[in-house]
Amino acid sequence: MKSVVIERPGELQLQNRPELSPAAGEVRVKVQYASICGSDVHIWHGHNPFARYPRVIGHEFFGHIDAVGEGVDAARIGERVAVDPVVSCGHCYPCSIGRPNVCSELQVIGVHRDGGFSQYAVAPAANAYLLPESIPDKLASLVEPFTIAANITAFLKPQPEDVALIFGSGPMGLTAIQVLKGVYNVRKVIVADRLPERLAMAKANGADVVLNNSDIPLAAQLEGEQPTLIIDAACHPSILAEAAALASPAGRIGLLGFSGETCSITQQSLTSKELSLFTSRLNSHRFPEVISWMEQGLIQPEKLVTHYLPLSDIEQAMTLFEKDPRSCCKVILAVE
Ligand code: NAI
Ligand code: MN
Ligand code: ZN
Repeated sequence: MKSVVIERPGELQLQNRPELSPAAGEVRVKVQYASICGSDVHIWHGHNPFARYPRVIGHEFFGHIDAVGEGVDAARIGERVAVDPVVSCGHCYPCSIGRPNVCSELQVIGVHRDGGFSQYAVAPAANAYLLPESIPDKLASLVEPFTIAANITAFLKPQPEDVALIFGSGPMGLTAIQVLKGVYNVRKVIVADRLPERLAMAKANGADVVLNNSDIPLAAQLEGEQPTLIIDAACHPSILAEAAALASPAGRIGLLGFSGETCSITQQSLTSKELSLFTSRLNSHRFPEVISWMEQGLIQPEKLVTHYLPLSDIEQAMTLFEKDPRSCCKVILAVE
């Protein structure tokens, strides 16, 4: 089988590898489409602290189950599935309270174990979610990125009367806009980014107001309006302090970033407004929820996609994704 392998940081190869067979409790997926995420690029460049090498990357993928391991119902062969990359132990404290995404033995497919930029991938059977026919093959790998927005909004509990502010209009910001508007009917969603092209995508994805904060600070542009719900989907360490300063009293702030840099903030700026801070990593069993949102047409995954390329063009696809945020958002790889 052909697989995209990061041999070591900086070294991306399209390799011929022996075909996988599913272990007990696992399914094998014949991959058809997979989408590129920032973390794939980070693993390539050696900037992901969790990755182990060599690694078949890719954690957003779709295909058909074509083999099952011991203990898995053979009737599942042929199912169209999207695969949840979060593999958890099932018995530690976070697992026991429904938060497998921070399992003490967390394994992420495509990061800690081999992933979906490959003709075949294996995963625990429970991670392979059957998709309704109404979700087309070409968009099915996008369930995963929407689960990130599903996870953080589950903490933030958006309400129709909220005024939301999203920092960053990359794939993560765009999924958050769609979920806030399409699922939670939030009255006003304001989006800030530095790139006009990204702000145009924010508009197309449902933002009510877009603000370019490259020259004029947001505080000046908001003219006193205080967002009640803020999501940091740009993830610069300086954003938390800015968000706290902008937020309404009793506001909620959601953080998605993994920077190792210190961010500096006073207790006063949080406590005086009694702000709530939530962090969110990957997703806790949110595939069914997102699949149902797609089925009901509450979210439009096609609005994120700018490119389809064959798996064989992986280096070109990853480079385009990394270097050209003005023209490129989600890149989907077609796997033969
Ligand atoms: P991206 O790099 O495509 O998008 C970030 C956007 O933020 C860009 O359009 C950029 O122009 C903009 N930006 C940068 N600084 C800004 C600022 N100060 N104010 C306003 N906009 C600013 O990245 P993507 O894929 O959308 O991911 C965003 C972040 O989310 C990344 O840092 C990533 O590590 C994190 N992430 C977290 C996950 C989690 O589970 N917690 C999952 C996936 C991504
Ligand atoms: Mn991703
Ligand atoms: Zn666990």
